[in-house]
Amino acid sequence: MNHRPPVDAVDRVEPANAGTVHIRPLVAADAVAYKALRDEALRTAPDAFTSDYESSVGRDASEYVARFGALESGQFFLGAFDAAGQLLGCLGCEREQRTKQRHCAVVVGMMVSPAAQRRGIGRMLVEACMQAASQVPGLTQLVLTVTASNHHVVRLYEQAGFRAWGLLPHAIVVDGVGYDKLHMLRLLSH
Ligand SMILES: CC(C)(COP(=O)(O)OP(=O)(O)OC[C@H]1O[C@@H](n2cnc3c(N)ncnc32)[C@H](O)[C@@H]1OP(=O)(O)O)[C@@H](O)C(=O)NCCC(=O)NCCS
Repeated sequence: MNHRPPVDAVDRVEPANAGTVHIRPLVAADAVAYKALRDEALRTAPDAFTSDYESSVGRDASEYVARFGALESGQFFLGAFDAAGQLLGCLGCEREQRTKQRHCAVVVGMMVSPAAQRRGIGRMLVEACMQAASQVPGLTQLVLTVTASNHHVVRLYEQAGFRAWGLLPHAIVVDGVGYDKLHMLRLLSH
């Protein structure tokens, strides 16, 4: 018999330094808050993302809703909300669709509002993502890329069990400066 929690069980968690933070999947009603968080992250941390602020700020929030997906599909976005319901951070999990790659999903768009950073929310989002992804039948590994010079973010992923397997030199260029991207892998336990 399968005693695993249902795939939509993303629990409320309350680390000591983060206050009450509720992690749940993003839904259409969150699109405006998601766009605001994303635009702020792209503007304040341009070297961390492949997307750029200038190309994104003019987009309509509704364009992002299709990305939110559904937990059970392996295509989902998780949001971290404070007690007042304000979106503090998010991350996406995008399952590969082709038959030979459906065991794999890409973690994307990890961001925490600058005012809410260093309170454990990023760590909570990664843990919740791994928990939800490990409930998806057939999904056995997560991959991601991270700007190699952002050592604190690399360390965060390493602490969550991701291991680097390669480096793409000069993967993105921001304001004329090239940045390498580290490729990381985390096997899921089902
Ligand atoms: C990366 C990011 C999401 C982390 O979110 P966060 O909520 O601040 O992370 P946490 O508080 O959970 O930190 C977990 C651990 O990561 C490391 N860490 C996170 N931010 C750090 C910082 N600014 N300096 C040093 N270490 C840091 C630490 O090891 C930390 O543990 P500690 O606080 O016990 O030392 C956030 O800094 C962010 O949005 N950055 C800009 C966008 C970005 O880089 N996204 C990642 C794309 S791959």
